[in-house]
Amino acid sequence: MSIIELSDLCKTYKVYQKKEGLRQSVAGLFRREYRDVNAVRDVNLKVEEGEFVAFLGPNGAGKTTTLKLLSGVINPTSGEAKVMGFIPWKRDNEYRRQFALVMGQKNQLWWDLPAQESFRLHQHIYQIPASQFQKTQDELTELLDVKRLLNQPVRELSLGERMKMELIAALLHSPRVLFLDEPTIGLDVVAQHNIQQFLKFYQQERKITILLTSHYMQDIEALCERVVIIAAGTIQYDGSLSGILNRFSNNKRVTFQLAEGQSFEALDRFAPIEELQEPKVQFRVPRSDVPKLLSGMLDAKRVVDVTVEDPPLEEIIAELFTQVAQNQKDSSPEWLGGN
Ligand SMILES: Nc1ncnc2c1ncn2[C@@H]1O[C@H](COP(=O)(O)OP(=O)(O)OP(=O)(O)O)[C@@H](O)[C@H]1O
Ligand SMILES: [Mg+2]
Repeated sequence: MSIIELSDLCKTYKVYQKKEGLRQSVAGLFRREYRDVNAVRDVNLKVEEGEFVAFLGPNGAGKTTTLKLLSGVINPTSGEAKVMGFIPWKRDNEYRRQFALVMGQKNQLWWDLPAQESFRLHQHIYQIPASQFQKTQDELTELLDVKRLLNQPVRELSLGERMKMELIAALLHSPRVLFLDEPTIGLDVVAQHNIQQFLKFYQQERKITILLTSHYMQDIEALCERVVIIAAGTIQYDGSLSGILNRFSNNKRVTFQLAEGQSFEALDRFAPIEELQEPKVQFRVPRSDVPKLLSGMLDAKRVVDVTVEDPPLEEIIAELFTQVAQNQKDSSPEWLGGN
């Protein structure tokens, strides 16, 4: 059995539809009209113990909803889920002691209290023995370098410091499964990097299972080998990070640096130019056209340097999301499949 298993999981929200105009509004007081939002539909997913999986998708894709279902915060409309053998929405105490949810957009610590107080509360709730609590707290505050801030009210902390405290609170009871919903949102690159490093270290050390959502590709590249892409409530891709490049990016970027005195005129006869900044010119061509471009340019010009690269992951993902949105409009199902 996998540590996380979702089968045909669905969550439909009923959203109250306000009608335009006074007459319609008044009518609405008596007979409310609802619209269904299929936030998660027929999601099937298996995660093995010790995996660090990225959960990607455009805004409104259903990522947070899925994590809420897995944490038992909300009930599904249909379908099943098991985490460590528990059905999350049964909210078994034994389950609660073995997982944690961290939401970057939501404060889970007491705002006016020092983090230390919130941590003690957690100790109490999770019945963590005093010696183990102290040891874990020491370790975590050390690793994240926030020991000196333990007694300061949380509202006085910076966003990055607060996020670190949120993580500590979530890890005090040593969960086996961790759900992270945009843990680096709004952080500067340094704080973002610190949190990445910490998560990487902690996950490797403890072999815990993590499901992470983030809009920062940097997080994903640093942490996750497996990527699940969700859009409009359904899974569109499940595979490796490099697989995304292979599968969705047919283009390569080829950059030439020309020797001094070479003419930059009419270079577009070789391939479409992406960027021209003398002495460099960059082309974007289908993978299969790279050899032809290389030999053509090398024959015609004195070249000092060449690089061939994939377009940045961010760009590929952005294209992918746009395609998904387009296909959603055309409503052709299963356009991508998975692997
Ligand atoms: N409590 C709610 N009531 C009604 N609709 C909701 C509720 N929560 C989410 N939705 C809708 O469900 C869909 C999925 O939302 P969800 O928050 O899961 O997206 P997400 O992938 O986390 O997006 P983001 O990247 O913006 O955080 C959206 O269309 C959203 O408007
Ligand atoms: Mg979300």
